[in-house]
Amino acid sequence: MNAPLAPDSLLAQLRWRCAVKKFDPSRTIAPATWRALEEALVLTPSSYGLQPWKFVVVESKAVREQLLPASWNQRQIVDASHLVVLCIQKHFGADGIDRFVKRMATVRGVAPESLDKFRSMMVRDVAEGARSWRINDWSANQLFIALGNLMTSAALLGIDTCPIEGFEPPKYDQILGLAAQGLAATVVCAAGYRAADDKYAAGPKVRFPLDEVIERR
Ligand SMILES: Cc1cc2nc3c(=O)[nH]c(=O)nc-3n(C[C@H](O)[C@H](O)[C@H](O)COP(=O)(O)O)c2cc1C
Repeated sequence: MNAPLAPDSLLAQLRWRCAVKKFDPSRTIAPATWRALEEALVLTPSSYGLQPWKFVVVESKAVREQLLPASWNQRQIVDASHLVVLCIQKHFGADGIDRFVKRMATVRGVAPESLDKFRSMMVRDVAEGARSWRINDWSANQLFIALGNLMTSAALLGIDTCPIEGFEPPKYDQILGLAAQGLAATVVCAAGYRAADDKYAAGPKVRFPLDEVIERR
């Protein structure tokens, strides 16, 4: 492990982070930095480690122009250096669990059968149990961990982001051909550099006081 970040440095970056309304369209995230943020997405934890997601990075400006009207015309969609559409795998079930078990066996160098009990437990819980009744919501819960991870990781690297729920998921699914892949756009994140005249960036953070939000018992 590298030397941990000092608490003050962490807080400085989290206070610097804001949901950017206006990106500088002339600035691009360097490839190595972007690659690190993609790795951060991959490293996101999920329940059982199941990773019921796909992250679609929309590089084409032409496609991003198409997404703009389906995004309440929020300019971040086009002006940011990078745009990620965070998608759930719809109706996640036994197939997804099997794919994960296979991957775990490969990574850990064990026989897939040695994971049978673990597999059955996940199937009972996620594919057949109470979670399966609202499986797309469960997957979306996992996906929002990825969103948080991406935003915080970016802030630590001095990269701006804007999380975006103000968009029309069915239109995204159609424009990006997501339904055919069994995916559903759930939340979007633009990343890049704030414009010098983004007036919201300079404003104070509106948060409830710590003592109201954190309760000790
Ligand atoms: C899930 C989610 C969706 C959001 N959707 C939008 C959005 O569509 N457009 C936007 O400008 N900001 C959006 N925001 C930003 C929030 O308004 C912002 O995070 C909040 O006001 C706190 O401000 P701060 O992030 O600058 O500290 C979203 C935030 C989250 C977490």
